[in-house]
Amino acid sequence: MEKEVTSESAMRALGQAIGKQLRGGEVIELIGDVGAGKTTLTKGIAIGLGVDEDVQSPSFTISRTYQTARLDLLLAHYDFYRLHDPGIMASELDEVVNDKGVVTVVEWAEIVNDVLPDGHVRMIIIPTSETARRVVIEGIEV
Ligand SMILES: Nc1ncnc2c1ncn2[C@@H]1O[C@H](COP(=O)(O)OP(=O)(O)O)[C@@H](O)[C@H]1O
Ligand SMILES: [Mg+2]
Repeated sequence: MEKEVTSESAMRALGQAIGKQLRGGEVIELIGDVGAGKTTLTKGIAIGLGVDEDVQSPSFTISRTYQTARLDLLLAHYDFYRLHDPGIMASELDEVVNDKGVVTVVEWAEIVNDVLPDGHVRMIIIPTSETARRVVIEGIEV
């Protein structure tokens, strides 16, 4: 499926629509260059899950975890940008993606691709202008 997203707020709205559908155990890989809108989309997913904290890029910490509106559901957000070796993060991620009480979102997942489950959701963000993005979505209906 493909969506044309023409503003930052529309990207958040797309994320929110996805976040509302998530029940736990889903793994979402976000693909796209720096500035494509991966973290913006994650902010929307968080809103859809009822996270009331502001989602921040986890670039320096690699991962951040947020409480959702459901007591038994967490959002884990990973960003492996510029990391050449995931180290112990790979085994941590392996546990997290197999936990039904967690929705996992991963930016720059190439180095941990063998840990992501088969058939995980993939969203590919392609900038088509300064404010427009084409989003190719695989593995979930929106
Ligand atoms: N349609 C759009 N969708 C998402 N971001 C957009 C859009 N148009 C402009 N932007 C801008 O692009 C940047 C995206 O940044 P970010 O979400 O951090 O990207 P990434 O995580 O992919 O590096 C933000 O500065 C945002 O304001
Ligand atoms: Mg980002």
